[in-house]
Amino acid sequence: MTERPVTLITGASSGIGAALAWCAAGAGHDLILTARRGDLLATLAEALTARHGGRVLTIAADLAEPDGADQLVNEILASGWHVDQLINNAGLGASGPLAEMPPAQLTGLLQVNLVSLTTLTRLLLPSMLARGHGGVLNVASLAAFQPGPLMAAYYASKAYGLSFSEALHEETRGTGVRISCLCPGATSTGFAREAQMEQSRLFRQGTATAESVARAAWRGFQRGQRVILPGWKTKLTALLSHWTPHLLSLRLVRALHGG
Ligand SMILES: NC(=O)c1ccc[n+]([C@@H]2O[C@H](COP(=O)([O-])OP(=O)(O)OC[C@H]3O[C@@H](n4cnc5c(N)ncnc54)[C@H](OP(=O)(O)O)[C@@H]3O)[C@@H](O)[C@H]2O)c1
Repeated sequence: MTERPVTLITGASSGIGAALAWCAAGAGHDLILTARRGDLLATLAEALTARHGGRVLTIAADLAEPDGADQLVNEILASGWHVDQLINNAGLGASGPLAEMPPAQLTGLLQVNLVSLTTLTRLLLPSMLARGHGGVLNVASLAAFQPGPLMAAYYASKAYGLSFSEALHEETRGTGVRISCLCPGATSTGFAREAQMEQSRLFRQGTATAESVARAAWRGFQRGQRVILPGWKTKLTALLSHWTPHLLSLRLVRALHGG
């Protein structure tokens, strides 16, 4: 019997991460699902195995903790699992003027969106390279393409995710390991509520579903696409962001966030 590939998904308790878990299970992968809400992970794992079979390991972990990513990898290895594919999906937003943001909220955002994503990639990439297959999918955002007044740290964290992924895509070319970056636009998940931006123009003008974003992401990732822009609206917005004068795009993004 051939061994089933193992995909690790962070932020798998809801939204795009949970939808990606269904894509991976449907493609015959065993799964390691992680997030803070272990109860949601357990319910999802049960539903996935009932529908698709295979093994699912769930690990409750807080990636906002400075050693969260190291502890997660230690726990995976101690459980006797390895990782073929890493999906760095966990992420959070925070809206409002930076000067009014609680410092702990800002540190948590940077730790999850940027530091843990980088640490997990650093820890898991060497074994993929040694095996000559596997991959990393980092979930950034359309926010990666321009600065975001009234969401400055979030937009900058996603620009980091995109830059980091594109550089690694080139660094690993020819190794058999795929590095992709997903850049979704507004998507209906728990994200907008958590970031206190449900009433912003951005989310009132229509959103994609987590399932459609995950399907496009999974397809692009398996093909080794460098940047994945799910849906025509997302592709068009990314294209326009390259052509819009910088000052205008700063004003437009500020207006989108209700300022
Ligand atoms: N929704 C959008 O409009 C949109 C657009 C572009 C990009 N994205 C990106 O898509 C990714 C997924 O977000 P989503 O839209 O699916 O929102 P979501 O439903 O809120 O999912 C976020 C996931 O991240 C996990 N997470 C948050 N803080 C964490 C922490 N400290 N430690 C571990 N896990 C943590 C959450 O799990 P727990 O709460 O259980 O820990 C949850 O599973 C994020 O990177 C987000 O930036 C979203």
